[in-house]
Amino acid sequence: MKYTRPLVLDESALTGVEEIDHQHQHLLNLINHTHLSLLKNGSPVNTRSLVRELLGYSIYHFNTEESLLKQYATTEEEKAEADKHISQHRLFSQRVVLLQEKLVRRQFIDTDELLSFLTGWINDHVLLTDKALAGLILDRQKSES
Ligand SMILES: [Fe+2]
Ligand SMILES: [Fe+2]
Repeated sequence: MKYTRPLVLDESALTGVEEIDHQHQHLLNLINHTHLSLLKNGSPVNTRSLVRELLGYSIYHFNTEESLLKQYATTEEEKAEADKHISQHRLFSQRVVLLQEKLVRRQFIDTDELLSFLTGWINDHVLLTDKALAGLILDRQKSES
């Protein structure tokens, strides 16, 4: 099956932390642009620059979340969850680096497989892991105020 429709973040994917939601939306736009460029067999230079932007923005976004994790995960249990969260970020970055390498070497890229990975990642990571982080932040902010 060819995935040709853009991914959208519906209400259920909102975490309630404005900064994170805003960044997720931008990340999703970049994913959609990258996917479209791969599907249309867009110019390799263009696709490579999109993937570079996707990687750069992913790292920026992960840094945002990871500094929030450092700030808000205080118990041993929360810190253990934070470590798992961070390792999911690393896996994602590695996957994008792999894509970048394939583009540079002009190797075959299975766009269906790539998009199913990205969709799965958004569903699993954003809907579960990031939401758990947002829950922790909102909880702490409430008890601080
Ligand atoms: Fe995350
Ligand atoms: Fe995130």
